[in-house]
Amino acid sequence: MLSGNLLAVFGLCATALAIPSQIPFSSIELIKEIDTWALNPNGDAAVIRVKSGSQHELHLLAINAQFTVPSVSYDAANAQARYTFLNDQTILTVSPTSEGQEGVWDLTTQILNSTTIPPAYPPSASKPNKLGGVILRSDLKELVHSAQASVLTVVLPEDLVLIQVAQHEEGWAIKGEPQLVKHKNLKIEGVTSNGTHLAYSASNHTASFIYLFDLHDTSSSPVLLRHSTKSQLIAPTFGNDEHIAWLSDRQLWLSTGNDEWEVPLDFDLFPEKIIFSKDGKAIYLLAPHDDQQSLFHLWTPSKSATKPIAPVRIPSNGTIHSAIHVGTTPLDHAHLIGIKSDSAKGEGKELWVISHSPHEDPTYNYENIRLTYFT
Ligand SMILES: *[C@@H]1O[C@H](CO)[C@@H](O)[C@H](O)[C@H]1NC(C)=O
Ligand SMILES: *[C@@H]1O[C@H](CO)[C@@H](O)[C@H](O)[C@H]1NC(C)=O
Ligand SMILES: *[C@@H]1O[C@H](CO)[C@@H](O)[C@H](O)[C@H]1NC(C)=O
Ligand SMILES: *[C@@H]1O[C@H](CO)[C@@H](O)[C@H](O)[C@H]1NC(C)=O
Repeated sequence: MLSGNLLAVFGLCATALAIPSQIPFSSIELIKEIDTWALNPNGDAAVIRVKSGSQHELHLLAINAQFTVPSVSYDAANAQARYTFLNDQTILTVSPTSEGQEGVWDLTTQILNSTTIPPAYPPSASKPNKLGGVILRSDLKELVHSAQASVLTVVLPEDLVLIQVAQHEEGWAIKGEPQLVKHKNLKIEGVTSNGTHLAYSASNHTASFIYLFDLHDTSSSPVLLRHSTKSQLIAPTFGNDEHIAWLSDRQLWLSTGNDEWEVPLDFDLFPEKIIFSKDGKAIYLLAPHDDQQSLFHLWTPSKSATKPIAPVRIPSNGTIHSAIHVGTTPLDHAHLIGIKSDSAKGEGKELWVISHSPHEDPTYNYENIRLTYFT
């Protein structure tokens, strides 16, 4: 604790020295914004880490698009920790062990108590319960939980560590030994899961690969799905009915398991991410344009569709960094929850609901609902 405070003080001094002396010290404002987050499967609760200078805080949030429930600051958070949900109420955290051994990370669970049904009370969480430890050779990038296979995937820059995490009568526990999936000298990116399988891209300067991994047998090997030495393959994403989409040199490709094809698009932007709607019927492309980044909607095409499709922009201001499709309302509006920032308005990374009617021109039928207020 003490050394943490000292570091923070040194950090501030360094910043102050780097700034010309005519600017008064008090004008140095530390922007406070979300730096990592996880949403529960239902899309009605989130755990958010907020960063302010060198300080990190963990916040709990109950989500209801109809009215905002303020987030609750839970505790100070470790800057290297990552979070995911094992089910709607169970938060799993992987963070460097507090016991001081280099390279050892702890897995802990906490039960979230939250509701969005009025009168909503502020969310709270139980004390962390340690499931065990894991040795990681490098910093952890992200966590991906595959519920049906009961596997937690710890994503490292070049490897994956697969850990079986199962629920017993006494609670959650680690089963067996962690399995290491190695990709020496290949950078792993965009790890996604559909509950039973993982898909991810791995690349170096000369080659690009997309792998599929069946988690029913974590001791098996990843299956090479696509390979290219000419195109950059990124963002593999699961749809329904065996669909997998990806970007090849930022062009949209689809596979149904047996065949693959490039989707003909009337689109002059270069998407970076693909998001399927929960029912698999719609695809959202996250693409940069005009100093911002927006979502573009299209209906999942069949292979026989040959007429170019023009994806429709969902109105929003600023840059959408990430988004998850959480479902469709009774009025058939699609809801996505994600991180958005808008520097023109002084807004840092905040959590938003981006909602629209997929049946009409979204320009006349959309909503942007801000869920957090840190900036
Ligand atoms: C959840 O929190 C509310 C409000 O603090 C409390 O009344 C309730 O007993 C808690 N529920 C559980 C299961 O702990
Ligand atoms: C890229 O990876 C492939 C497959 O592992 C390998 O054959 C190739 O030599 C690598 N290229 C570079 C520049 O490391
Ligand atoms: C996940 O994707 C794989 C590969 O497309 C598919 O075989 C499997 O059935 C999918 N699992 C679920 C739960 O949809
Ligand atoms: C974007 O910002 C402008 C100016 O503040 C506002 O009028 C408009 O409603 C915003 N659009 C969206 C989609 O939030």
